[in-house]
Amino acid sequence: MTARIIDGKAFAAGLRERVAVAAAEVASIAKRKPGLAVVLVGEDPASAVYVRSKGKATVAAGMESFEHRLPADTTQETLEALVDRLNADPAVDGILVQLPLPGHLDESAIITRINPDKDVDGFHPVNAGRLATGLEGFVPCTPLGCLMLLRDVLGDLSGRQAVVIGRSNIVGKPMAQLLIGDSCTVTVAHSRTRDLPDVVRRADIVVAAVGRAKMVKPEWIKPGATLIDVGINRTDDGLVGDIDPACAEVAGAMTPVPGGVGPMTIAVLLRNTVVSAARRDG
Ligand code: GUN
Repeated sequence: MTARIIDGKAFAAGLRERVAVAAAEVASIAKRKPGLAVVLVGEDPASAVYVRSKGKATVAAGMESFEHRLPADTTQETLEALVDRLNADPAVDGILVQLPLPGHLDESAIITRINPDKDVDGFHPVNAGRLATGLEGFVPCTPLGCLMLLRDVLGDLSGRQAVVIGRSNIVGKPMAQLLIGDSCTVTVAHSRTRDLPDVVRRADIVVAAVGRAKMVKPEWIKPGATLIDVGINRTDDGLVGDIDPACAEVAGAMTPVPGGVGPMTIAVLLRNTVVSAARRDG
């Protein structure tokens, strides 16, 4: 069997078009464009690239982009004061503080300072709690993007065996919550899991988010399973995912790296921002 390749790039482009339509509708009702504020502290080149592409995508979707670049030696007080201002600013529907922050800053205190109703990253503990209890809130962009791809490929997910590899707050844990919400039977595997190949072998759905190049092997895959690869690992062979591309010989469908999950993250961020604007003003 050769797996169907899940075209995340094309799905993300379609989502961005739908977001642009929704943004225009909200703008005509609210008499202002939805606005996303992105905060970058320091000069990390990878973060600077992400922030620039988020800003461009925001404007391309017909929304307002507010970029705040602060020096690497910014104090906790200064950053918290900026978050307070953005929380109070009616033109701002979404606030994203680019992570990681420089080491002297208390990341968790900053995330918790963001108004949960503007937390379009879905990282605030209130939003994690809302997701876990089935309340409306914001869901982290990458796992929500993965869920959208899974629903697109498989339709109804209920009753399927899903294995999430990785237990981070940003991907693994919210991914597991989303799959539970769609009535999957969910196992969360991690670095201490015993006999990972045996756990993966039972899965109809595998989401890999560990950051280890080509870790998931073809012998582990149940024939016909759907594989979602969140990993982006820089190696001598270029960018590779957490799933060995040879798994495509066994799987039913699989995301490529690049061009799979990656493009979904910004598209969902834009989606969360327009949803925030609609909830506030639409
Ligand atoms: N750094 C890398 N990815 C992300 C993201 O999705 N949100 C934030 N805030 N920082 C990041």
